[in-house]
Amino acid sequence: MAHEYLRREYGFMVCSRSDTMGVGIIGYGLMGRRHARVYAESGFCRIAAVSDSSANALTDAAARYQCDVYDDYRRLLTRADIDAVSICLPDSQHFSATREAAMAGKHVLIEKPLSTDIREAAELVKIAHESSATMMVGHLLRFDPRYSALHAAIDRGELGSLVFMSAMRSSPLTGPMRYRGQASLEFHVAIHDVDLMLWCSGDTVVRVNAIGASRILKEINALDVVLATLEFKSGLVASLEASWVLPESFPSTLDSKLRVVGTSGAAIVDTCNQGLLIASSEGVTLPDTMRWTELGGHAVGVLRDEILHFIACVRQGERPLVAMDDAYEAVAVAYAIQQSLKSGRPEEVAHAQTPSARTPTCSANPRRRA
Ligand SMILES: NC(=O)c1ccc[n+]([C@@H]2O[C@H](COP(=O)([O-])OP(=O)(O)OC[C@H]3O[C@@H](n4cnc5c(N)ncnc54)[C@H](O)[C@@H]3O)[C@@H](O)[C@H]2O)c1
Repeated sequence: MAHEYLRREYGFMVCSRSDTMGVGIIGYGLMGRRHARVYAESGFCRIAAVSDSSANALTDAAARYQCDVYDDYRRLLTRADIDAVSICLPDSQHFSATREAAMAGKHVLIEKPLSTDIREAAELVKIAHESSATMMVGHLLRFDPRYSALHAAIDRGELGSLVFMSAMRSSPLTGPMRYRGQASLEFHVAIHDVDLMLWCSGDTVVRVNAIGASRILKEINALDVVLATLEFKSGLVASLEASWVLPESFPSTLDSKLRVVGTSGAAIVDTCNQGLLIASSEGVTLPDTMRWTELGGHAVGVLRDEILHFIACVRQGERPLVAMDDAYEAVAVAYAIQQSLKSGRPEEVAHAQTPSARTPTCSANPRRRA
């Protein structure tokens, strides 16, 4: 099934089994397991090795994929039969693993965010510019048909010049309790909408102002909510709300909305209800039907499409939909939000010093911006 999809969507010549791409997974937790499954089911890849610091994770990977396992990812990176790696480590560990993977000549798919530090992000962009390998950050929502349709409508000028955007993303307490301070709202949650707003507008954020509150998650030293305003270069303005303290009884694992209002139109993406409501003796749920779900025993959904796109870019040497410069911009905005939370003042966004190679948009469209 995936073969046919790749051939149709990306014009692949289907290769023999011996021509499969060797893949290494670095960090085999929630996302690493999902990545591994998509590669393995694609028909174009074999899981050659997995690295994780947990012995249980390695036992599971070895049994599932009959692959080699390492508690130190540096050993995985020395293997010549590994062409590409997915970095699915905790947010703060993306930098070292990505840099070492790129230095080892591997194609790299990095889970978002590129890094939690702006200097590290800049260094990774520089490495990517100097490398012939494919490097892409998993800004998953660009592959979600709802957001890509919004992006296309804006590109066609259907909303006119953009005036304001507002984004809200909220999830149940299970997330922060699982990460226990290893992830921040700015880099883990808000960065999704930051990337979407940058991508949809084709614009640049110049200044942010943020406040936060911590009552429910005080004991793990994490914020419950971040509220921020964003000022763009063109005069476009945006508000952003990120939180992860919904009760575990909340029927959906995600409640998010993105509103975009322009001079001649408006659009809303609302993902709380994904088209399926199940009422059982356990209560009412609104399950995920988009991001990672199953069809005929295979993983399908937005994550699969993101990873198939990465595989296609590697095989065809094409530029990924998420340019490393775009991922840097998202980090720069999240970083400015973090600085504003600390300082209590508006903060300027530090843009890349090197010439930017952001994903082209149809910014030439005269109807798009004032
Ligand atoms: N795109 C999305 O929507 C989305 C959703 C969830 C998470 N993520 C991102 O995916 C990444 C992973 O998140 P997760 O939820 O899978 O986390 P996780 O905690 O479930 O998995 C991380 C894994 O890394 C392992 N690990 C930690 N340090 C290690 C080291 N030095 N060497 C080897 N293994 C190590 C841990 O044992 C764990 O198995 C994060 O960057 C997160 O932001 C993205």
